[in-house]
Amino acid sequence: MKGVILVAGKGTRLYPITRHIAKPLMPLANRMTLEFAFDQFREIGVTDLCVIVGENEPAMRETLGDGSNFGLNLTFVRQTEPKGLAHAISFAKEFVGDDDFAVFLGDAVYDRSLKPFFEQFAQAKCANLNLVMWVEDPRRFGVANLDGDRIVKLVEKPANPESNYAMAGMYIFSKALWGVLPDLQPSARGEYEITDAIQMMIDRGESVVAGIYEGNWFDTGTLDSYLHASQFLVGETARIGENVSLNSPFGQHVVIGDGSEVSAEFIEDSVVLPGAKVNVKGTIRHCILAGEVNSDSSLDSTIRWNSEDA
Ligand code: G1P
Repeated sequence: MKGVILVAGKGTRLYPITRHIAKPLMPLANRMTLEFAFDQFREIGVTDLCVIVGENEPAMRETLGDGSNFGLNLTFVRQTEPKGLAHAISFAKEFVGDDDFAVFLGDAVYDRSLKPFFEQFAQAKCANLNLVMWVEDPRRFGVANLDGDRIVKLVEKPANPESNYAMAGMYIFSKALWGVLPDLQPSARGEYEITDAIQMMIDRGESVVAGIYEGNWFDTGTLDSYLHASQFLVGETARIGENVSLNSPFGQHVVIGDGSEVSAEFIEDSVVLPGAKVNVKGTIRHCILAGEVNSDSSLDSTIRWNSEDA
Protein backbone atom coordinates (compact mmCIF):
# COMPACT_ATOMS: atom_id res chain seq x y z
CA MET A 1 0.00 0.00 0.00
CA LYS A 2 1.23 3.45 -0.90
CA GLY A 3 -0.20 6.86 -0.11
CA VAL A 4 -1.06 9.83 -2.26
CA ILE A 5 -2.02 13.22 -0.85
CA LEU A 6 -3.52 15.88 -3.08
CA VAL A 7 -2.47 19.38 -2.08
CA ALA A 8 -2.28 21.24 -5.39
CA GLY A 9 -5.50 23.23 -4.92
CA LYS A 10 -5.32 27.00 -4.62
CA GLY A 11 -7.66 27.26 -1.66
CA THR A 12 -9.46 30.23 -3.22
CA ARG A 13 -12.28 30.13 -0.69
CA LEU A 14 -9.78 30.98 2.04
CA TYR A 15 -8.28 33.95 0.19
CA PRO A 16 -6.45 36.14 1.01
CA ILE A 17 -4.68 33.97 3.60
CA THR A 18 -4.17 31.09 1.18
CA ARG A 19 -2.44 33.43 -1.25
CA HIS A 20 0.36 33.40 1.34
CA ILE A 21 0.03 30.02 3.09
CA ALA A 22 -1.05 26.90 1.20
CA LYS A 23 -4.28 25.58 2.69
CA PRO A 24 -2.88 22.18 3.76
CA LEU A 25 -0.10 24.03 5.62
CA MET A 26 -2.52 26.23 7.53
CA PRO A 27 -2.49 25.66 11.28
CA LEU A 28 -5.58 24.00 12.63
CA ALA A 29 -5.80 24.02 16.42
CA ASN A 30 -2.11 25.00 16.23
CA ARG A 31 -1.13 21.94 14.15
CA MET A 32 -0.49 21.94 10.44
CA THR A 33 -3.62 20.67 8.67
CA LEU A 34 -1.65 18.02 6.74
CA GLU A 35 -0.50 16.44 9.98
CA PHE A 36 -3.97 15.00 10.46
CA ALA A 37 -3.61 13.06 7.19
CA PHE A 38 -0.05 12.10 8.14
CA ASP A 39 -1.38 10.64 11.43
CA GLN A 40 -3.81 8.46 9.51
CA PHE A 41 -1.13 7.15 7.14
CA ARG A 42 1.29 6.40 9.98
CA GLU A 43 -1.43 4.53 11.83
CA ILE A 44 -1.92 2.12 8.94
CA GLY A 45 1.83 1.77 8.51
CA VAL A 46 2.04 3.58 5.16
CA THR A 47 5.08 5.85 5.19
CA ASP A 48 5.87 6.20 1.47
CA LEU A 49 3.73 9.08 0.35
CA CYS A 50 3.47 10.97 -2.90
CA VAL A 51 2.45 14.59 -2.45
CA ILE A 52 0.83 16.03 -5.57
CA VAL A 53 1.68 19.71 -5.52
CA GLY A 54 0.80 22.64 -7.77
CA GLU A 55 2.07 26.20 -7.76
CA ASN A 56 2.60 25.75 -4.04
CA GLU A 57 5.47 23.32 -4.72
CA PRO A 58 8.27 25.51 -3.26
CA ALA A 59 6.38 26.11 0.00
CA MET A 60 5.44 22.45 0.26
CA ARG A 61 8.99 21.27 -0.27
CA GLU A 62 10.39 23.80 2.15
CA THR A 63 7.89 23.03 4.91
CA LEU A 64 7.69 19.26 4.56
CA GLY A 65 11.24 18.45 3.45
CA ASP A 66 11.82 14.77 2.80
CA GLY A 67 9.20 13.90 5.42
CA SER A 68 11.64 12.53 8.00
CA ASN A 69 10.50 15.10 10.58
CA PHE A 70 7.08 13.46 10.34
CA GLY A 71 8.30 9.85 10.27
CA LEU A 72 7.48 9.67 6.56
CA ASN A 73 9.23 9.39 3.23
CA LEU A 74 7.79 12.02 0.89
CA THR A 75 8.04 12.29 -2.89
CA PHE A 76 6.76 15.46 -4.56
CA VAL A 77 5.20 15.43 -8.01
CA ARG A 78 3.85 18.52 -9.72
CA GLN A 79 0.41 18.60 -11.30
CA THR A 80 1.10 20.86 -14.26
CA GLU A 81 -2.39 22.38 -14.51
CA PRO A 82 -5.33 22.29 -12.09
CA LYS A 83 -7.67 19.98 -14.01
CA GLY A 84 -9.41 17.96 -11.34
CA LEU A 85 -8.81 15.17 -8.86
CA ALA A 86 -8.45 12.34 -11.39
CA HIS A 87 -5.95 14.46 -13.32
CA ALA A 88 -4.03 15.11 -10.09
CA ILE A 89 -3.97 11.41 -9.20
CA SER A 90 -2.64 10.52 -12.66
CA PHE A 91 0.63 12.20 -11.70
CA ALA A 92 1.17 9.55 -9.01
CA LYS A 93 1.15 6.65 -11.50
CA GLU A 94 4.90 6.17 -11.70
CA PHE A 95 5.31 6.49 -7.93
CA VAL A 96 2.56 3.94 -7.21
CA GLY A 97 3.60 1.35 -9.81
CA ASP A 98 1.52 -1.82 -9.46
CA ASP A 99 0.72 -1.29 -5.77
CA ASP A 100 -2.60 -0.56 -4.13
CA PHE A 101 -2.77 3.01 -2.93
CA ALA A 102 -4.84 5.33 -0.78
CA VAL A 103 -5.67 8.87 -1.85
CA PHE A 104 -6.32 11.58 0.74
CA LEU A 105 -7.41 15.13 0.10
CA GLY A 106 -4.97 17.44 1.86
CA ASP A 107 -7.63 19.54 3.55
CA ALA A 108 -9.69 16.70 5.04
CA VAL A 109 -9.68 15.95 8.75
CA TYR A 110 -11.32 12.90 10.34
CA ASP A 111 -11.77 12.39 14.05
CA ARG A 112 -11.76 8.62 13.78
CA SER A 113 -9.20 6.15 12.56
CA LEU A 114 -9.64 5.07 8.94
CA LYS A 115 -7.79 1.80 9.57
CA PRO A 116 -10.96 -0.36 9.46
CA PHE A 117 -11.47 0.72 5.83
CA PHE A 118 -8.07 -0.62 4.83
CA GLU A 119 -9.04 -3.96 6.39
CA GLN A 120 -12.37 -3.82 4.53
CA PHE A 121 -10.55 -3.10 1.24
CA ALA A 122 -8.23 -6.07 1.75
CA GLN A 123 -11.05 -8.44 2.69
CA ALA A 124 -13.31 -7.34 -0.17
CA LYS A 125 -10.49 -7.81 -2.70
CA CYS A 126 -12.14 -4.97 -4.59
CA ALA A 127 -10.75 -2.56 -7.17
CA ASN A 128 -11.74 0.45 -5.16
CA LEU A 129 -13.13 1.46 -1.76
CA ASN A 130 -14.55 4.93 -1.26
CA LEU A 131 -15.16 6.56 2.04
CA VAL A 132 -18.76 7.77 2.12
CA MET A 133 -20.75 9.52 4.77
CA TRP A 134 -24.48 10.08 5.23
CA VAL A 135 -25.13 13.81 5.06
CA GLU A 136 -28.33 15.80 5.12
CA ASP A 137 -27.63 17.69 1.90
CA PRO A 138 -25.13 15.95 -0.41
CA ARG A 139 -25.49 18.31 -3.39
CA ARG A 140 -21.99 19.80 -3.02
CA PHE A 141 -20.33 16.38 -3.05
CA GLY A 142 -19.95 13.31 -5.20
CA VAL A 143 -22.98 11.16 -4.34
CA ALA A 144 -22.99 7.34 -4.17
CA ASN A 145 -25.94 4.99 -4.64
CA LEU A 146 -25.38 1.87 -2.58
CA ASP A 147 -26.61 -1.69 -2.79
CA GLY A 148 -25.44 -3.18 0.49
CA ASP A 149 -21.82 -2.11 0.63
CA ARG A 150 -21.45 -2.03 -3.17
CA ILE A 151 -21.46 1.29 -4.96
CA VAL A 152 -23.68 0.96 -8.03
CA LYS A 153 -23.74 4.55 -9.24
CA LEU A 154 -21.86 7.77 -8.62
CA VAL A 155 -22.74 11.31 -9.62
CA GLU A 156 -20.63 14.41 -9.01
CA LYS A 157 -22.60 17.22 -7.35
CA PRO A 158 -26.06 16.21 -8.58
CA ALA A 159 -28.86 18.79 -8.43
CA ASN A 160 -31.26 16.04 -7.35
CA PRO A 161 -29.29 13.47 -5.37
CA GLU A 162 -30.63 9.92 -5.34
CA SER A 163 -28.85 9.11 -2.09
CA ASN A 164 -27.55 10.86 1.02
CA TYR A 165 -24.13 9.23 0.87
CA ALA A 166 -21.46 11.82 0.09
CA MET A 167 -18.00 10.88 -1.13
CA ALA A 168 -15.95 11.80 1.91
CA GLY A 169 -12.49 12.49 0.49
CA MET A 170 -10.58 9.21 0.95
CA TYR A 171 -10.23 6.59 -1.75
CA ILE A 172 -8.35 3.27 -1.82
CA PHE A 173 -7.51 1.90 -5.27
CA SER A 174 -5.96 -1.11 -6.88
CA LYS A 175 -4.07 -0.58 -10.12
CA ALA A 176 -7.41 -1.01 -11.96
CA LEU A 177 -7.76 2.79 -11.78
CA TRP A 178 -4.92 3.21 -14.27
CA GLY A 179 -6.94 1.26 -16.85
CA VAL A 180 -9.76 3.80 -17.01
CA LEU A 181 -7.93 7.12 -16.74
CA PRO A 182 -6.85 7.31 -20.41
CA ASP A 183 -10.54 7.19 -21.46
CA LEU A 184 -11.81 9.78 -19.01
CA GLN A 185 -13.43 12.90 -20.47
CA PRO A 186 -13.68 16.29 -18.75
CA SER A 187 -16.89 17.07 -16.88
CA ALA A 188 -19.20 20.04 -17.39
CA ARG A 189 -16.95 22.07 -15.06
CA GLY A 190 -14.00 21.17 -17.27
CA GLU A 191 -12.34 18.84 -14.74
CA TYR A 192 -11.28 15.22 -14.85
CA GLU A 193 -13.45 14.01 -11.97
CA ILE A 194 -12.38 11.08 -9.84
CA THR A 195 -16.10 10.38 -9.41
CA ASP A 196 -16.44 9.84 -13.18
CA ALA A 197 -13.35 7.63 -13.24
CA ILE A 198 -14.83 5.41 -10.53
CA GLN A 199 -18.15 5.27 -12.42
CA MET A 200 -16.17 3.97 -15.41
CA MET A 201 -14.67 1.29 -13.19
CA ILE A 202 -18.22 0.28 -12.15
CA ASP A 203 -19.37 0.28 -15.79
CA ARG A 204 -16.49 -2.01 -16.71
CA GLY A 205 -17.51 -4.52 -14.04
CA GLU A 206 -14.88 -3.72 -11.41
CA SER A 207 -15.89 -4.23 -7.82
CA VAL A 208 -16.33 -0.88 -6.08
CA VAL A 209 -17.33 -0.74 -2.43
CA ALA A 210 -18.35 1.88 0.09
CA GLY A 211 -16.66 2.33 3.43
CA ILE A 212 -19.32 3.95 5.53
CA TYR A 213 -17.74 6.49 7.85
CA GLU A 214 -19.67 7.46 10.96
CA GLY A 215 -17.37 9.90 12.71
CA ASN A 216 -16.85 13.60 12.12
CA TRP A 217 -15.34 14.67 8.84
CA PHE A 218 -14.25 18.21 8.15
CA ASP A 219 -13.07 19.74 4.94
CA THR A 220 -11.29 22.90 5.90
CA GLY A 221 -11.78 24.81 2.67
CA THR A 222 -14.09 27.66 3.69
CA LEU A 223 -14.23 30.16 6.56
CA ASP A 224 -17.17 28.30 8.11
CA SER A 225 -15.78 24.80 7.65
CA TYR A 226 -12.29 25.79 8.80
CA LEU A 227 -13.65 27.41 11.97
CA HIS A 228 -16.00 24.50 12.52
CA ALA A 229 -13.08 22.05 12.39
CA SER A 230 -11.08 24.32 14.67
CA GLN A 231 -13.96 24.52 17.17
CA PHE A 232 -14.28 20.78 17.22
CA LEU A 233 -10.57 20.27 17.80
CA VAL A 234 -10.10 22.87 20.54
CA GLY A 235 -13.39 22.19 22.30
CA GLU A 236 -15.08 24.93 24.28
CA THR A 237 -11.90 26.47 25.57
CA ALA A 238 -9.26 28.65 23.99
CA ARG A 239 -5.87 27.50 22.78
CA ILE A 240 -3.23 30.14 23.32
CA GLY A 241 0.21 29.53 21.81
CA GLU A 242 3.60 30.41 23.24
CA ASN A 243 5.04 33.92 23.50
CA VAL A 244 1.67 35.49 22.89
CA SER A 245 0.74 38.99 23.96
CA LEU A 246 -3.02 38.87 24.43
CA ASN A 247 -4.65 42.11 25.41
CA SER A 248 -8.26 41.08 25.02
CA PRO A 249 -10.84 39.10 26.92
CA PHE A 250 -11.78 35.97 25.02
CA GLY A 251 -14.76 33.67 24.69
CA GLN A 252 -15.10 30.19 23.27
CA HIS A 253 -13.31 28.59 20.34
CA VAL A 254 -10.30 30.86 20.14
CA VAL A 255 -6.93 29.78 18.81
CA ILE A 256 -4.02 32.20 19.09
CA GLY A 257 -0.85 31.16 17.29
CA ASP A 258 2.65 31.35 18.73
CA GLY A 259 4.31 34.73 18.87
CA SER A 260 1.25 36.76 17.98
CA GLU A 261 0.02 40.02 19.50
CA VAL A 262 -3.70 40.56 19.83
CA SER A 263 -5.47 43.61 21.14
CA ALA A 264 -9.28 43.86 20.92
CA GLU A 265 -12.36 44.48 23.06
CA PHE A 266 -13.30 40.82 22.87
CA ILE A 267 -12.48 37.83 20.69
CA GLU A 268 -14.38 34.60 20.15
CA ASP A 269 -14.84 31.84 17.59
CA SER A 270 -11.72 32.97 15.73
CA VAL A 271 -8.22 31.92 14.77
CA VAL A 272 -5.17 34.20 14.83
CA LEU A 273 -2.26 32.70 12.94
CA PRO A 274 1.26 32.54 14.39
CA GLY A 275 3.17 35.81 14.36
CA ALA A 276 0.14 37.96 13.57
CA LYS A 277 -0.18 41.48 14.95
CA VAL A 278 -3.84 42.25 15.45
CA ASN A 279 -5.14 45.58 16.71
CA VAL A 280 -8.91 45.90 16.53
CA LYS A 281 -10.94 48.66 18.17
CA GLY A 282 -13.98 46.51 18.65
CA THR A 283 -14.78 42.80 18.81
CA ILE A 284 -13.50 39.92 16.68
CA ARG A 285 -16.01 37.18 15.87
CA HIS A 286 -15.84 34.28 13.41
CA CYS A 287 -12.60 35.42 11.75
CA ILE A 288 -9.27 34.07 10.57
CA LEU A 289 -6.59 36.73 10.89
CA ALA A 290 -2.95 36.76 9.82
CA GLY A 291 -0.21 39.29 9.24
CA GLU A 292 -0.77 42.85 10.49
CA VAL A 293 -4.44 43.51 10.93
CA ASN A 294 -5.56 46.95 12.11
CA SER A 295 -9.19 47.95 12.24
CA ASP A 296 -11.09 50.84 13.78
CA SER A 297 -14.25 48.79 13.96
CA SER A 298 -15.34 45.25 14.85
CA LEU A 299 -14.51 42.33 12.57
CA ASP A 300 -17.13 39.67 11.91
CA SER A 301 -17.02 36.66 9.57
CA THR A 302 -13.96 37.75 7.65
CA ILE A 303 -10.59 36.45 6.53
CA ARG A 304 -7.76 39.00 6.66
CA TRP A 305 -4.14 39.05 5.70
CA ASN A 306 -2.73 42.48 6.58
CA SER A 307 -5.34 44.85 5.21
CA GLU A 308 -6.24 42.49 2.39
CA ASP A 309 -9.79 41.24 2.30
CA ALA A 310 -10.98 38.04 0.66
C1 G1P B 1 -14.28 16.74 -4.33
C2 G1P B 1 -14.88 15.55 -5.08
C3 G1P B 1 -16.24 15.17 -4.47
C4 G1P B 1 -16.08 14.91 -2.98
C5 G1P B 1 -15.43 16.13 -2.31
C6 G1P B 1 -15.12 15.82 -0.85
O1 G1P B 1 -15.06 17.87 -4.59
O2 G1P B 1 -15.01 15.89 -6.45
O3 G1P B 1 -16.73 14.02 -5.12
O4 G1P B 1 -17.35 14.62 -2.42
O5 G1P B 1 -14.20 16.48 -2.93
O6 G1P B 1 -14.61 16.96 -0.19
P1 G1P B 1 -14.43 19.37 -4.61
O7 G1P B 1 -14.34 19.79 -3.19
O8 G1P B 1 -13.12 19.26 -5.29
O9 G1P B 1 -15.41 20.19 -5.39
